[in-house]
Amino acid sequence: MSASLARREPVSVVLADETDFAGFRRAARALAAQGVPPEAVMWFTATDACNALFATQASVFAEPGKTAAVAVPATFVALCETVVQHDDPQRFALLYRLLWRLQHEPSLRHDPLDADVLLARQMARAVRRDQHKTTAFVRFRPLNDGSAGPLHVAWFEPSHHTVEAVAPFFMRRFANIRWAILTPRRSVRWEPASAALPEGRLVFGPGARKEDTPLADAGEALWLTYYANIFNPARLKLRMMEKEMPRKYWRNLPEAELIAPLAAAATERSGRMVAEAPTTPRRKVVTLARAPTPNGPAQTLEALNAMAQRCRECPIGEHATQAVVGQGPREPLLMFVGEQPGDQEDLRGQPFVGPAGQLFDRALAELGVARDTVYVANAVKHFKYEMRGKRRIHKTPAQREAAACAHWLEDEIRLVNPAALVALGATAARSLMGEAVAVTRERGQWQRRADGRPVLVTLHPSALLRADPAGHQQAWADWLADLRCALDPPKLLVRS
Ligand code: URA
Repeated sequence: MSASLARREPVSVVLADETDFAGFRRAARALAAQGVPPEAVMWFTATDACNALFATQASVFAEPGKTAAVAVPATFVALCETVVQHDDPQRFALLYRLLWRLQHEPSLRHDPLDADVLLARQMARAVRRDQHKTTAFVRFRPLNDGSAGPLHVAWFEPSHHTVEAVAPFFMRRFANIRWAILTPRRSVRWEPASAALPEGRLVFGPGARKEDTPLADAGEALWLTYYANIFNPARLKLRMMEKEMPRKYWRNLPEAELIAPLAAAATERSGRMVAEAPTTPRRKVVTLARAPTPNGPAQTLEALNAMAQRCRECPIGEHATQAVVGQGPREPLLMFVGEQPGDQEDLRGQPFVGPAGQLFDRALAELGVARDTVYVANAVKHFKYEMRGKRRIHKTPAQREAAACAHWLEDEIRLVNPAALVALGATAARSLMGEAVAVTRERGQWQRRADGRPVLVTLHPSALLRADPAGHQQAWADWLADLRCALDPPKLLVRS
Protein backbone atom coordinates (compact mmCIF):
# COMPACT_ATOMS: atom_id res chain seq x y z
CA MET A 1 0.00 0.00 0.00
CA SER A 2 1.32 3.44 -0.92
CA ALA A 3 2.30 5.83 1.85
CA SER A 4 0.31 8.68 0.31
CA LEU A 5 -2.14 10.29 2.70
CA ALA A 6 -4.14 12.07 0.04
CA ARG A 7 -6.69 9.28 -0.26
CA ARG A 8 -9.91 8.18 1.30
CA GLU A 9 -9.65 4.37 1.03
CA PRO A 10 -8.95 2.55 4.31
CA VAL A 11 -5.53 3.22 5.78
CA SER A 12 -3.64 0.61 7.77
CA VAL A 13 -0.94 1.88 10.07
CA VAL A 14 1.65 -0.34 11.70
CA LEU A 15 3.39 0.92 14.80
CA ALA A 16 6.93 -0.10 15.68
CA ASP A 17 5.90 -1.92 18.87
CA GLU A 18 3.11 -2.31 21.40
CA THR A 19 3.85 0.98 23.17
CA ASP A 20 4.99 3.07 20.21
CA PHE A 21 3.50 6.32 21.47
CA ALA A 22 5.74 8.51 19.29
CA GLY A 23 4.72 6.57 16.18
CA PHE A 24 1.06 6.74 17.10
CA ARG A 25 1.27 10.46 17.74
CA ARG A 26 2.98 11.16 14.43
CA ALA A 27 0.58 9.02 12.44
CA ALA A 28 -2.51 10.31 14.24
CA ARG A 29 -1.52 13.94 13.68
CA ALA A 30 -0.88 13.36 10.01
CA LEU A 31 -4.10 11.43 9.49
CA ALA A 32 -6.17 14.01 11.37
CA ALA A 33 -4.59 16.83 9.39
CA GLN A 34 -5.44 14.99 6.15
CA GLY A 35 -9.03 14.57 7.28
CA VAL A 36 -8.90 10.76 7.42
CA PRO A 37 -11.83 9.73 9.66
CA PRO A 38 -11.32 7.14 12.41
CA GLU A 39 -13.47 4.52 10.72
CA ALA A 40 -11.07 4.57 7.75
CA VAL A 41 -7.98 3.71 9.83
CA MET A 42 -6.81 0.32 11.04
CA TRP A 43 -4.05 0.21 13.62
CA PHE A 44 -1.52 -2.60 13.98
CA THR A 45 1.70 -3.14 15.82
CA ALA A 46 4.75 -4.83 14.35
CA THR A 47 3.86 -7.93 16.37
CA ASP A 48 0.71 -8.36 14.25
CA ALA A 49 3.25 -9.67 11.73
CA CYS A 50 1.11 -10.58 8.71
CA ASN A 51 -1.03 -7.46 8.87
CA ALA A 52 2.12 -5.42 9.04
CA LEU A 53 3.04 -6.58 5.52
CA PHE A 54 0.21 -4.57 3.99
CA ALA A 55 0.20 -1.58 6.26
CA THR A 56 1.79 1.84 6.22
CA GLN A 57 4.74 1.93 8.59
CA ALA A 58 4.14 4.71 11.12
CA SER A 59 7.66 5.95 10.39
CA VAL A 60 6.54 7.31 6.96
CA PHE A 61 4.54 9.91 8.81
CA ALA A 62 7.82 11.35 10.00
CA GLU A 63 8.75 12.27 6.43
CA PRO A 64 8.80 16.01 5.77
CA GLY A 65 5.38 17.42 4.99
CA LYS A 66 3.49 14.46 6.44
CA THR A 67 3.05 15.70 10.00
CA ALA A 68 0.95 18.58 11.22
CA ALA A 69 0.27 20.17 14.56
CA VAL A 70 -3.12 19.28 16.03
CA ALA A 71 -4.24 21.23 19.07
CA VAL A 72 -5.40 19.04 21.97
CA PRO A 73 -5.46 19.58 25.74
CA ALA A 74 -2.20 18.63 27.49
CA THR A 75 -4.16 16.11 29.57
CA PHE A 76 -5.15 14.27 26.41
CA VAL A 77 -1.51 13.73 25.48
CA ALA A 78 -0.79 12.37 28.96
CA LEU A 79 -3.86 10.14 28.72
CA CYS A 80 -2.64 8.74 25.37
CA GLU A 81 0.81 8.02 26.80
CA THR A 82 -0.79 5.86 29.48
CA VAL A 83 -3.52 4.23 27.40
CA VAL A 84 -1.07 3.00 24.72
CA GLN A 85 0.30 0.68 27.40
CA HIS A 86 -3.07 -1.06 27.70
CA ASP A 87 -3.44 -4.59 26.42
CA ASP A 88 -6.61 -3.90 24.44
CA PRO A 89 -5.89 -4.14 20.68
CA GLN A 90 -8.50 -1.40 20.12
CA ARG A 91 -6.61 1.19 22.17
CA PHE A 92 -5.05 3.02 19.22
CA ALA A 93 -8.39 3.16 17.40
CA LEU A 94 -10.04 4.56 20.53
CA LEU A 95 -7.36 7.23 20.97
CA TYR A 96 -7.49 8.27 17.33
CA ARG A 97 -11.29 8.45 17.51
CA LEU A 98 -10.97 10.70 20.56
CA LEU A 99 -8.42 12.89 18.80
CA TRP A 100 -10.73 13.17 15.79
CA ARG A 101 -13.72 13.99 17.96
CA LEU A 102 -11.74 16.61 19.91
CA GLN A 103 -11.17 18.36 16.57
CA HIS A 104 -14.75 18.08 15.35
CA GLU A 105 -16.81 18.20 18.56
CA PRO A 106 -15.61 21.09 20.74
CA SER A 107 -18.16 20.14 23.43
CA LEU A 108 -16.29 16.86 24.06
CA ARG A 109 -13.75 18.74 26.19
CA HIS A 110 -16.51 19.56 28.65
CA ASP A 111 -18.08 16.14 28.77
CA PRO A 112 -16.28 13.87 31.23
CA LEU A 113 -19.18 11.41 30.97
CA ASP A 114 -18.74 10.66 27.26
CA ALA A 115 -18.42 6.89 26.67
CA ASP A 116 -15.10 7.12 24.78
CA VAL A 117 -13.65 9.45 27.43
CA LEU A 118 -14.79 7.17 30.22
CA LEU A 119 -13.37 4.10 28.49
CA ALA A 120 -10.00 5.78 27.94
CA ARG A 121 -9.87 6.90 31.58
CA GLN A 122 -10.78 3.43 32.74
CA MET A 123 -7.98 1.96 30.61
CA ALA A 124 -5.52 4.53 31.99
CA ARG A 125 -6.51 3.55 35.52
CA ALA A 126 -5.97 -0.14 34.75
CA VAL A 127 -2.52 0.65 33.35
CA ARG A 128 -1.55 2.72 36.39
CA ARG A 129 -2.75 -0.07 38.68
CA ASP A 130 -0.65 -2.55 36.72
CA GLN A 131 2.41 -0.28 36.98
CA HIS A 132 1.86 0.00 40.70
CA LYS A 133 1.49 -3.78 41.13
CA THR A 134 4.70 -4.31 39.19
CA THR A 135 6.67 -1.98 41.41
CA ALA A 136 5.18 -3.67 44.48
CA PHE A 137 5.40 -7.36 43.56
CA VAL A 138 8.57 -7.81 41.54
CA ARG A 139 10.95 -10.07 43.52
CA PHE A 140 14.55 -10.44 42.41
CA ARG A 141 16.62 -13.59 42.83
CA PRO A 142 20.40 -13.48 42.53
CA LEU A 143 21.96 -15.41 39.68
CA ASN A 144 25.68 -16.00 39.45
CA ASP A 145 26.37 -15.59 35.78
CA GLY A 146 30.15 -15.50 36.11
CA SER A 147 30.43 -11.69 36.33
CA ALA A 148 31.86 -9.81 39.32
CA GLY A 149 28.56 -9.48 41.23
CA PRO A 150 25.33 -11.47 40.88
CA LEU A 151 22.69 -10.56 38.33
CA HIS A 152 19.33 -10.12 40.12
CA VAL A 153 16.60 -11.60 38.00
CA ALA A 154 12.84 -11.32 38.45
CA TRP A 155 10.02 -13.01 36.58
CA PHE A 156 6.79 -11.05 36.39
CA GLU A 157 3.54 -11.25 34.43
CA PRO A 158 2.07 -7.78 33.98
CA SER A 159 -1.44 -7.50 32.56
CA HIS A 160 -0.49 -4.63 30.25
CA HIS A 161 2.54 -3.36 28.33
CA THR A 162 4.02 -1.56 31.31
CA VAL A 163 7.63 -2.76 31.39
CA GLU A 164 9.11 0.35 29.74
CA ALA A 165 7.13 2.66 32.00
CA VAL A 166 8.20 1.02 35.26
CA ALA A 167 11.84 0.36 34.32
CA PRO A 168 13.02 3.85 35.44
CA PHE A 169 11.53 3.20 38.88
CA PHE A 170 13.72 0.09 39.35
CA MET A 171 16.68 1.90 37.81
CA ARG A 172 16.49 4.62 40.46
CA ARG A 173 15.76 2.20 43.28
CA PHE A 174 18.46 -0.36 42.44
CA ALA A 175 20.95 1.91 40.70
CA ASN A 176 24.04 0.02 41.84
CA ILE A 177 23.15 -3.59 41.18
CA ARG A 178 22.76 -5.49 37.95
CA TRP A 179 19.18 -6.60 37.51
CA ALA A 180 16.82 -7.91 34.87
CA ILE A 181 13.05 -8.16 34.78
CA LEU A 182 11.71 -10.86 32.50
CA THR A 183 8.11 -10.91 31.37
CA PRO A 184 6.33 -12.92 28.69
CA ARG A 185 6.23 -9.99 26.25
CA ARG A 186 9.22 -7.81 27.06
CA SER A 187 12.34 -7.88 29.17
CA VAL A 188 14.58 -5.18 30.55
CA ARG A 189 18.08 -5.27 31.95
CA TRP A 190 19.95 -2.61 33.92
CA GLU A 191 23.69 -2.17 33.54
CA PRO A 192 24.86 0.06 36.40
CA ALA A 193 27.24 2.96 35.83
CA SER A 194 30.86 1.94 35.25
CA ALA A 195 33.98 3.50 33.77
CA ALA A 196 32.91 2.35 30.33
CA LEU A 197 29.27 3.35 30.88
CA PRO A 198 29.22 6.46 33.11
CA GLU A 199 25.42 6.84 33.05
CA GLY A 200 24.45 3.18 33.27
CA ARG A 201 22.08 1.74 30.69
CA LEU A 202 18.61 0.21 30.45
CA VAL A 203 18.43 -2.42 27.74
CA PHE A 204 15.04 -3.62 26.51
CA GLY A 205 14.58 -6.93 24.79
CA PRO A 206 11.93 -9.42 23.72
CA GLY A 207 9.83 -11.50 26.11
CA ALA A 208 11.23 -14.43 28.05
CA ARG A 209 10.15 -17.69 29.69
CA LYS A 210 9.63 -18.30 33.36
CA GLU A 211 12.19 -21.13 33.22
CA ASP A 212 14.85 -18.48 32.50
CA THR A 213 14.63 -17.10 36.06
CA PRO A 214 16.87 -18.64 38.72
CA LEU A 215 15.52 -20.91 41.42
CA ALA A 216 15.09 -19.88 45.04
CA ASP A 217 18.31 -19.38 46.99
CA ALA A 218 19.38 -19.02 50.62
CA GLY A 219 18.58 -15.29 50.63
CA GLU A 220 15.01 -16.11 49.77
CA ALA A 221 14.76 -18.60 52.65
CA LEU A 222 15.83 -15.78 54.95
CA TRP A 223 13.12 -13.50 53.56
CA LEU A 224 10.50 -16.21 54.10
CA THR A 225 11.56 -16.62 57.74
CA TYR A 226 11.33 -12.85 58.17
CA TYR A 227 7.91 -12.72 56.51
CA ALA A 228 6.60 -15.52 58.74
CA ASN A 229 7.84 -13.61 61.79
CA ILE A 230 6.38 -10.24 60.93
CA PHE A 231 3.06 -11.77 59.86
CA ASN A 232 0.44 -10.40 62.23
CA PRO A 233 -2.55 -12.77 62.46
CA ALA A 234 -4.72 -10.09 64.09
CA ARG A 235 -4.30 -7.90 61.03
CA LEU A 236 -5.12 -10.62 58.54
CA LYS A 237 -7.96 -9.60 56.22
CA LEU A 238 -7.77 -12.10 53.42
CA ARG A 239 -10.35 -10.32 51.25
CA MET A 240 -8.47 -7.00 51.49
CA MET A 241 -5.20 -8.79 50.93
CA GLU A 242 -6.51 -10.37 47.74
CA LYS A 243 -7.79 -7.01 46.58
CA GLU A 244 -4.40 -5.38 47.06
CA MET A 245 -2.46 -8.42 45.92
CA PRO A 246 -4.70 -10.33 43.49
CA ARG A 247 -4.09 -14.08 43.42
CA LYS A 248 -2.68 -13.97 39.89
CA TYR A 249 0.45 -12.35 41.35
CA TRP A 250 0.85 -14.96 44.06
CA ARG A 251 2.49 -17.56 41.81
CA ASN A 252 5.53 -15.31 41.42
CA LEU A 253 5.76 -14.18 45.03
CA PRO A 254 7.93 -16.37 47.23
CA GLU A 255 6.02 -15.39 50.37
CA ALA A 256 2.69 -16.44 48.82
CA GLU A 257 3.31 -20.10 49.72
CA LEU A 258 3.27 -19.05 53.38
CA ILE A 259 -0.03 -17.21 53.22
CA ALA A 260 -2.33 -20.25 53.31
CA PRO A 261 -0.69 -22.00 56.31
CA LEU A 262 -0.27 -18.72 58.21
CA ALA A 263 -3.86 -17.75 57.47
CA ALA A 264 -5.08 -21.16 58.64
CA ALA A 265 -3.33 -20.67 61.97
CA ALA A 266 -4.36 -17.01 62.25
CA THR A 267 -7.50 -17.45 64.36
CA GLU A 268 -5.73 -19.49 66.97
CA ARG A 269 -2.67 -17.16 66.99
CA SER A 270 -4.70 -13.97 67.23
CA GLY A 271 -6.71 -15.51 70.09
CA ARG A 272 -3.43 -16.06 71.91
CA MET A 273 -2.33 -12.50 71.18
CA VAL A 274 -5.55 -11.10 72.60
CA ALA A 275 -5.22 -13.21 75.74
CA GLU A 276 -1.67 -12.01 76.37
CA ALA A 277 -1.10 -8.77 78.31
CA PRO A 278 -0.47 -5.75 76.05
CA THR A 279 3.12 -4.65 75.77
CA THR A 280 2.41 -1.05 74.77
CA PRO A 281 -0.29 1.36 75.88
CA ARG A 282 -3.35 1.43 73.66
CA ARG A 283 -3.78 4.42 71.44
CA LYS A 284 -7.07 6.18 71.42
CA VAL A 285 -8.87 5.74 68.11
CA VAL A 286 -10.40 8.94 66.82
CA THR A 287 -13.23 8.78 64.32
CA LEU A 288 -13.05 11.30 61.52
CA ALA A 289 -16.74 11.76 60.78
CA ARG A 290 -17.47 15.22 59.35
CA ALA A 291 -19.18 17.28 62.01
CA PRO A 292 -21.98 19.65 60.98
CA THR A 293 -21.52 23.35 61.71
CA PRO A 294 -22.48 23.93 65.35
CA ASN A 295 -25.75 25.92 65.65
CA GLY A 296 -26.55 25.19 62.01
CA PRO A 297 -24.85 26.31 58.78
CA ALA A 298 -23.96 29.98 58.29
CA GLN A 299 -26.35 31.90 56.06
CA THR A 300 -23.86 34.51 54.87
CA LEU A 301 -20.10 34.64 54.38
CA GLU A 302 -19.89 37.36 57.03
CA ALA A 303 -21.63 35.08 59.54
CA LEU A 304 -19.37 32.23 58.56
CA ASN A 305 -16.32 34.40 59.18
CA ALA A 306 -17.59 35.43 62.62
CA MET A 307 -18.40 31.82 63.58
CA ALA A 308 -15.05 30.47 62.32
CA GLN A 309 -13.20 33.06 64.43
CA ARG A 310 -14.63 31.41 67.55
CA CYS A 311 -14.02 27.85 66.37
CA ARG A 312 -12.16 25.61 68.83
CA GLU A 313 -13.29 22.27 67.44
CA CYS A 314 -9.62 21.31 67.15
CA PRO A 315 -6.60 22.69 69.00
CA ILE A 316 -5.16 24.76 66.11
CA GLY A 317 -7.47 27.73 66.65
CA GLU A 318 -6.13 28.31 70.13
CA HIS A 319 -2.67 29.31 68.86
CA ALA A 320 -3.47 31.15 65.63
CA THR A 321 -3.99 34.91 65.36
CA GLN A 322 -7.30 34.57 63.58
CA ALA A 323 -9.32 32.30 61.29
CA VAL A 324 -8.70 33.10 57.64
CA VAL A 325 -11.74 32.49 55.45
CA GLY A 326 -11.70 32.82 51.69
CA GLN A 327 -11.80 35.93 49.52
CA GLY A 328 -13.28 36.66 46.13
CA PRO A 329 -16.55 37.14 44.31
CA ARG A 330 -19.69 35.01 44.69
CA GLU A 331 -20.66 32.69 41.83
CA PRO A 332 -17.18 32.70 40.28
CA LEU A 333 -16.12 30.27 37.60
CA LEU A 334 -13.43 28.92 39.92
CA MET A 335 -12.88 28.53 43.62
CA PHE A 336 -9.29 27.59 44.52
CA VAL A 337 -8.78 25.73 47.78
CA GLY A 338 -5.39 25.58 49.48
CA GLU A 339 -4.31 23.81 52.65
CA GLN A 340 -4.26 26.33 55.49
CA PRO A 341 -3.14 29.94 56.01
CA GLY A 342 0.59 30.44 56.45
CA ASP A 343 2.43 32.85 58.71
CA GLN A 344 1.63 35.97 56.69
CA GLU A 345 -1.93 34.94 55.94
CA ASP A 346 -2.48 34.40 59.67
CA LEU A 347 -1.22 37.92 60.45
CA ARG A 348 -3.11 39.66 57.62
CA GLY A 349 -6.27 37.58 57.73
CA GLN A 350 -6.22 36.93 53.97
CA PRO A 351 -5.54 33.72 52.05
CA PHE A 352 -2.53 33.27 49.79
CA VAL A 353 -0.68 36.51 50.39
CA GLY A 354 2.69 34.96 51.44
CA PRO A 355 5.34 33.22 49.28
CA ALA A 356 2.96 30.50 48.05
CA GLY A 357 0.44 33.23 47.25
CA GLN A 358 3.01 35.07 45.15
CA LEU A 359 3.58 31.97 43.06
CA PHE A 360 -0.14 31.52 42.74
CA ASP A 361 -0.54 35.15 41.60
CA ARG A 362 2.24 34.70 39.05
CA ALA A 363 0.54 31.62 37.63
CA LEU A 364 -2.81 33.43 37.37
CA ALA A 365 -1.09 36.34 35.63
CA GLU A 366 0.55 34.00 33.10
CA LEU A 367 -2.85 32.48 32.40
CA GLY A 368 -4.42 35.90 32.00
CA VAL A 369 -6.77 35.46 34.96
CA ALA A 370 -7.38 38.43 37.27
CA ARG A 371 -7.18 37.28 40.89
CA ASP A 372 -10.30 39.21 41.81
CA THR A 373 -12.36 37.09 39.41
CA VAL A 374 -11.73 33.87 41.34
CA TYR A 375 -12.49 32.86 44.91
CA VAL A 376 -9.50 31.71 46.98
CA ALA A 377 -9.92 29.76 50.23
CA ASN A 378 -8.33 27.11 52.41
CA ALA A 379 -9.42 23.68 53.63
CA VAL A 380 -8.29 24.51 57.17
CA LYS A 381 -9.08 27.96 58.47
CA HIS A 382 -6.41 28.41 61.16
CA PHE A 383 -2.60 28.44 60.88
CA LYS A 384 -0.92 25.40 62.41
CA TYR A 385 2.74 25.89 63.25
CA GLU A 386 5.57 25.08 65.60
CA MET A 387 8.04 27.58 67.04
CA ARG A 388 11.68 27.30 65.94
CA GLY A 389 13.53 30.03 67.73
CA LYS A 390 11.45 33.09 67.00
CA ARG A 391 9.98 31.74 63.77
CA ARG A 392 6.61 30.10 63.33
CA ILE A 393 7.14 27.13 61.04
CA HIS A 394 4.22 25.65 59.09
CA LYS A 395 3.01 22.24 60.24
CA THR A 396 0.74 20.14 58.07
CA PRO A 397 -2.69 19.84 59.68
CA ALA A 398 -3.60 16.34 60.86
CA GLN A 399 -6.41 14.53 59.11
CA ARG A 400 -8.72 14.94 62.06
CA GLU A 401 -8.03 18.69 62.11
CA ALA A 402 -8.89 19.00 58.43
CA ALA A 403 -11.99 16.86 59.03
CA ALA A 404 -13.06 19.14 61.90
CA CYS A 405 -12.77 22.14 59.56
CA ALA A 406 -14.58 20.50 56.62
CA HIS A 407 -17.99 21.91 57.52
CA TRP A 408 -16.65 25.49 57.28
CA LEU A 409 -15.37 24.75 53.81
CA GLU A 410 -18.66 23.11 52.79
CA ASP A 411 -20.61 26.13 54.04
CA GLU A 412 -18.26 28.40 52.12
CA ILE A 413 -18.71 26.42 48.88
CA ARG A 414 -22.49 26.55 49.30
CA LEU A 415 -22.47 30.30 49.89
CA VAL A 416 -19.92 31.16 47.19
CA ASN A 417 -21.45 28.72 44.68
CA PRO A 418 -18.53 28.39 42.25
CA ALA A 419 -18.98 26.58 38.93
CA ALA A 420 -15.90 24.46 39.63
CA LEU A 421 -13.26 23.90 42.29
CA VAL A 422 -9.50 23.54 42.12
CA ALA A 423 -7.81 21.60 44.91
CA LEU A 424 -4.28 22.83 45.52
CA GLY A 425 -2.54 19.87 47.15
CA ALA A 426 -3.51 16.76 49.06
CA THR A 427 -5.19 18.35 52.08
CA ALA A 428 -7.54 20.37 49.87
CA ALA A 429 -8.19 17.37 47.62
CA ARG A 430 -9.11 15.16 50.57
CA SER A 431 -11.36 17.82 52.08
CA LEU A 432 -13.13 18.45 48.78
CA MET A 433 -13.51 14.82 47.70
CA GLY A 434 -14.08 13.33 51.15
CA GLU A 435 -11.34 10.75 50.61
CA ALA A 436 -7.61 10.63 49.97
CA VAL A 437 -6.60 11.54 46.41
CA ALA A 438 -3.24 10.56 44.90
CA VAL A 439 -2.40 14.07 43.73
CA THR A 440 0.62 13.29 41.56
CA ARG A 441 -1.36 10.59 39.82
CA GLU A 442 -4.69 12.38 39.47
CA ARG A 443 -3.42 15.89 38.83
CA GLY A 444 -4.81 17.80 35.88
CA GLN A 445 -7.91 15.61 35.66
CA TRP A 446 -11.45 16.56 36.43
CA GLN A 447 -13.25 14.65 39.15
CA ARG A 448 -16.78 15.13 40.35
CA ARG A 449 -17.89 15.70 43.92
CA ALA A 450 -21.01 14.21 45.40
CA ASP A 451 -22.75 17.60 44.91
CA GLY A 452 -22.03 17.41 41.17
CA ARG A 453 -19.40 20.13 41.18
CA PRO A 454 -16.29 19.40 39.10
CA VAL A 455 -12.98 19.43 40.99
CA LEU A 456 -9.59 19.66 39.37
CA VAL A 457 -6.72 18.44 41.53
CA THR A 458 -3.23 19.81 41.19
CA LEU A 459 -0.14 20.50 43.28
CA HIS A 460 0.00 23.05 46.04
CA PRO A 461 2.22 26.00 44.99
CA SER A 462 4.59 25.30 47.87
CA ALA A 463 5.32 21.87 46.29
CA LEU A 464 6.88 23.87 43.44
CA LEU A 465 8.93 25.84 45.91
CA ARG A 466 10.26 22.53 47.25
CA ALA A 467 10.92 21.00 43.80
CA ASP A 468 14.44 20.07 42.79
CA PRO A 469 15.89 23.27 41.22
CA ALA A 470 16.93 21.35 38.10
CA GLY A 471 13.30 20.47 37.53
CA HIS A 472 11.78 23.84 38.41
CA GLN A 473 11.06 24.92 34.87
CA GLN A 474 9.36 21.68 33.98
CA ALA A 475 7.42 21.63 37.27
CA TRP A 476 6.23 25.15 36.61
CA ALA A 477 5.17 24.35 33.04
CA ASP A 478 3.32 21.23 34.23
CA TRP A 479 1.55 23.18 36.95
CA LEU A 480 0.48 25.86 34.48
CA ALA A 481 -0.81 23.13 32.19
CA ASP A 482 -2.97 21.79 35.04
CA LEU A 483 -4.26 25.24 35.87
CA ARG A 484 -4.98 25.92 32.23
CA CYS A 485 -7.34 22.91 32.26
CA ALA A 486 -9.09 24.56 35.18
CA LEU A 487 -10.09 27.44 32.93
CA ASP A 488 -12.16 25.04 30.90
CA PRO A 489 -14.26 23.15 33.46
CA PRO A 490 -16.88 20.56 32.56
CA LYS A 491 -20.45 21.59 33.14
CA LEU A 492 -21.89 21.57 36.64
CA LEU A 493 -24.40 18.79 37.17
CA VAL A 494 -26.19 20.56 39.98
CA ARG A 495 -25.81 24.23 40.79
CA SER A 496 -27.69 25.10 43.92
N1 URA B 1 -0.74 27.97 51.75
C1 URA B 1 -2.07 27.70 51.70
O1 URA B 1 -2.47 26.56 51.47
N2 URA B 1 -2.92 28.68 51.88
C2 URA B 1 -2.55 29.92 52.10
O2 URA B 1 -3.42 30.76 52.26
C3 URA B 1 -1.18 30.19 52.14
C4 URA B 1 -0.29 29.20 51.96
